[in-house]
Amino acid sequence: MNKNKVYIETYGCQMNVADSELVMRILLDKGYELTKKPEEANVILLNTCSVRENAEQRIYGRLGNIKKLKAGENNVVIGVLGCMAERLRENLIEKNRMVDVVVGPDEYRNLPQYLDEAFNGGKGIGVRLSRTETYDDIIPYREDGLSAWISVMRGCDKFCTYCVVPYTRGRERSRTLSSIVNEIKTLSQRGFREVTLLGQNVNSYRDGENDFADLITAAAQVDRKIRIRFTTSHPQDLSDKLLYAIAENPNVCNYIHLPVQSGSDRILQLMNRTYTIEHYLNLIQKAREIIPGVSFSTDIIAGFPTETDEDHKATLEVLKTVRYDGAFMFKYSPREGTKAYKMKDDVPEEVKGQRLREIIDLQQKISYEKNQELIGKEEIILIEGTSRKSDEYFSGRTDTNKVTIFPASEKYGVGDYVRVKITGATSATLFADVLEKISPEFFEVHKTA
Ligand code: SAH
Ligand code: SF4
Ligand code: F3S
Repeated sequence: MNKNKVYIETYGCQMNVADSELVMRILLDKGYELTKKPEEANVILLNTCSVRENAEQRIYGRLGNIKKLKAGENNVVIGVLGCMAERLRENLIEKNRMVDVVVGPDEYRNLPQYLDEAFNGGKGIGVRLSRTETYDDIIPYREDGLSAWISVMRGCDKFCTYCVVPYTRGRERSRTLSSIVNEIKTLSQRGFREVTLLGQNVNSYRDGENDFADLITAAAQVDRKIRIRFTTSHPQDLSDKLLYAIAENPNVCNYIHLPVQSGSDRILQLMNRTYTIEHYLNLIQKAREIIPGVSFSTDIIAGFPTETDEDHKATLEVLKTVRYDGAFMFKYSPREGTKAYKMKDDVPEEVKGQRLREIIDLQQKISYEKNQELIGKEEIILIEGTSRKSDEYFSGRTDTNKVTIFPASEKYGVGDYVRVKITGATSATLFADVLEKISPEFFEVHKTA
């Protein structure tokens, strides 16, 4: 009998990328093969996102495209995984009969059984959430490369009033520090150079006595040639201890994604964000004192219920005060089942659009100015590949996560670190000349830093 071939497509956040790697491992262990061509597959899986309405619309569109593959000769099973599976459950099958399998984020261990049910002509539905599942013992399937995502915790207990994640991902729970460190050791042996520790709120990570600062420190010690990044930090739980851990470990990147969401205390309260702008700005200032050169990015929601022009102006003020290096900016999207869903979505669509445009324009101007300030400065870049536009250029990122383009050469290559001098900048990209390749001793020296 031919082996079953699985094709998987991933939407949404990096947690979903990490989850798809778990799913691939679980299915490989059951004898499935992987394919990158949907037309070759007899299992097609979409790992989905529910965070905003348009994320779900995209999935419905994609299911429409896949229809023709289902109509083909091999008995194709179509599965929806992830947050949309968890949110819509069996309704997803009622809405779209083409879907055979619906499996939420805490039931991936049982995915093979649900697929069997579908192969036998039934529908496989697994959407129970768990208080304990962390998949700690499953080693995600990863192709060779430089960069890996590692989920260090699952779920979220924050219940921001606009957000579906606590409902689609369940309660907060952490993996063990030792298994995370072992995973990084394996990645080090395979030549990986960057690891991003993931959680909806990494600052509430806990394994016995160890908190997130301990985890970051342990992760950083595995291999100084591996850059450690992390996301996302909630402003309420960002500890001084973590700031010092970032400052003291040279390979922990000086970059913090710290979503502010709004600049208005009244809106923050309605969002249940549990901090004030004063607290937030103090935190930024403290981080800048403890970690020289630290860069920040943020998330902003425009047009939350009752948001006035004045609230919106307060958001623009925060952007001007903090001067983020980058931001992810969204229009508020009401999500059924959340607390905010019961509030009237009373900011008209065109006002939301207008405010979002103002936020994006301002942030772009700031990103441009901040990048211009870097011209003439030196940065250390991890080379990630050739530039998308030309083979004659390499592309990599600074410690602070800025994409940098510089001339390719045989003297250095993918996976090497180089010291560069910035020569030009747009709002999204830096351009540079290489000064020198960083020697292995550089990382040895830093070990004792
Ligand atoms: N745990 C992370 C990521 C959550 S989802 C955090 O707290 O930052 C990523 C971003 O999507 C959020 O920060 C928020 O800005 C945005 N978002 C979440 N729900 C939304 C909604 N209903 N409408 C618009 N944006 C939303
Ligand atoms: Fe959603 Fe808030 Fe949790 Fe982030 S912290 S995942 S925005 S509930
Ligand atoms: Fe989307 Fe779920 Fe991530 S809703 S943003 S895929 S946690």
